[in-house]
Amino acid sequence: MCGIVGYTGRRDAQPILLEGIARLEYRGYDSSGLATVNGKLYVRKAVGRVAELRKIVQTQPLAGTSGICHTRWATHGNVTEANAHPHLGGDGAVAVVHNGVIENYDTLKRELQAQGIKFKSQTDTEVIAHLIASFLDSSPLPPGEGLGVRALVDAVRRALPHLKGTYGLAVISPRFPNVIVGARLGSPLVVGLGDGENFLASDASALVGHTKRVIYLEDNQICVLAPERADILDANAASAHAEVHTLESAPGDADRGDFEHFMIKEIYEQPEVIERAMAGRLDEAEATAHFGGLNLDPQQLRQVERLIMTACGTSYHAALIGEHLFEQFARMPVEVEYASEFRYRNPPIERNTIVVGITQSGETADTLAALRESKRKGQHTIGICNVVGSSIAREVDGGVFLHAGPEIGVASTKAFTAQVTVLTLLAVHFGRMRHLSYQAGARILNELQAMPDILRATLKCHDQVAEIARKYHHVANMLYLGRQYLFPMALEGALKLKEISYIHAEGYPAAEMKHGPIALVDENTPSVFLVPHGNVYDKVMSNLEEIKARGGPVIAIATKDDVHVEAKADDIIHVPSVPEYLQPLVTAIPLQLLAYHIALLRGCDIDKPRNLAKSVTVE
Ligand code: AGP
Repeated sequence: MCGIVGYTGRRDAQPILLEGIARLEYRGYDSSGLATVNGKLYVRKAVGRVAELRKIVQTQPLAGTSGICHTRWATHGNVTEANAHPHLGGDGAVAVVHNGVIENYDTLKRELQAQGIKFKSQTDTEVIAHLIASFLDSSPLPPGEGLGVRALVDAVRRALPHLKGTYGLAVISPRFPNVIVGARLGSPLVVGLGDGENFLASDASALVGHTKRVIYLEDNQICVLAPERADILDANAASAHAEVHTLESAPGDADRGDFEHFMIKEIYEQPEVIERAMAGRLDEAEATAHFGGLNLDPQQLRQVERLIMTACGTSYHAALIGEHLFEQFARMPVEVEYASEFRYRNPPIERNTIVVGITQSGETADTLAALRESKRKGQHTIGICNVVGSSIAREVDGGVFLHAGPEIGVASTKAFTAQVTVLTLLAVHFGRMRHLSYQAGARILNELQAMPDILRATLKCHDQVAEIARKYHHVANMLYLGRQYLFPMALEGALKLKEISYIHAEGYPAAEMKHGPIALVDENTPSVFLVPHGNVYDKVMSNLEEIKARGGPVIAIATKDDVHVEAKADDIIHVPSVPEYLQPLVTAIPLQLLAYHIALLRGCDIDKPRNLAKSVTVE
């Protein structure tokens, strides 16, 4: 969940490392640090944002044309300067930055302490540094060779098998100036190829502006970087195959522009984003959608009898909507699984089942592991993903990219509506191979193509939502209620509020309230009702009355000009009238804006909420 960057070349390393790590700050922002080699190792660390580290190096700059840098999401040890990376091993023989979790660090730590090694931090990572340093000291290589880079590579190679868990790590040593050794198991690591310089990073966004040529390290690979060389090795330090990819995104993709926060920028990008998610995939002649990357021929597609959708967080909520869409348009059974649970359960899975992993980042450890487990058991895996070159995108059998562009705000918004749009198209694709008629397919494609303008109209509720946020931003609890397609939206609305405003919130199927949660209702606990026109409108209205009857304030998200709700709710946000299967797209915007404005009024850090990170690369 942390971010790491490395640079070796002819230029000053410090500014390149700081700019790169600032681009990775969405991966964790508890503390940061960097180290360069300039004769000896120089280290600077700071608690908090990269901006704090910048302040320190302004007065105490680091010289050197090679170095490593890190921004932390704490897994082991408090948020302190001592626990910030890089960690030194062997009294400064090596410096290590690490993204991942070493599960057996406690055992290794005790073994190293028994050898008299003193630890300065509470982290799992410091164990790696001392382990590599100890292998460097005891290098079996002949004296000549012992002095060369091979000694460092060999020390890393010998240390890795002792580590149980996940890592993306980078190592430098004053004994080997301008050399960076990196290694990957489970956590992402990308090598950036330059001219007389080379880069290393947790993801390619740190390389923007420096190079478009990248190599994605596979598990159990080691890389050795120097200004004029970039070697990719296997676990035995033998040369390994490395495919060079060209990055798509261009500088400026990740700029806020005139928006105060990435989140609000990404909310306003949604009309164009769903246009991009549909682009090139609509086949109006056949009233269906086409996908070039599923890697299933029409015969295989027809034989699919069941889908398992697995994901985490907001992507899991998109999967719950996918379940409704496939049941309605493809008449196919769908199971939706939390990836963190699914990966350790051992459900009997019938033949002709495909497993669909839904993920914005493509690096979520639980979703990656759930897909690997399914692949091991012979299921065809499909990834619905936003990041080209991510681990999940590279490991699944087939996939669909969202084309939503970089999503920087930790709270997912545009990726979610892009996921729902792609799932709708996929359901039509499967449906048109089964029972979905030409007319029905054509109607869905027409209704979907109208959505970008409908979302532009929906964004006009902004000021109304901001006004309602002013009324409720002080509450301690909030309930979100919806039914059918809108139950997952109740979960999503609650998650958005929780993650950026830190208000406790729960999403429920509206009718479930009577079975217990209604006990939470009082005049200080507002309920957000998702009640646009539809098949269960009357039912939801009865649920709304039940809350009103107990004095609970009601904020209703309802269809434009619905006077009935207007008479009952305390506050109302109007959304355009759309078919039920498209209501998740229109209700997403007021839910996102409500969370945004409440968090803003509470002075919360919108784009980097406490305790969170954009991609969760550890279990
Ligand atoms: C959503 O706003 C959160 N950032 C989080 O729940 C996220 O959806 C989850 O971690 C899954 O991430 P992914 O889509 O990148 O796999």
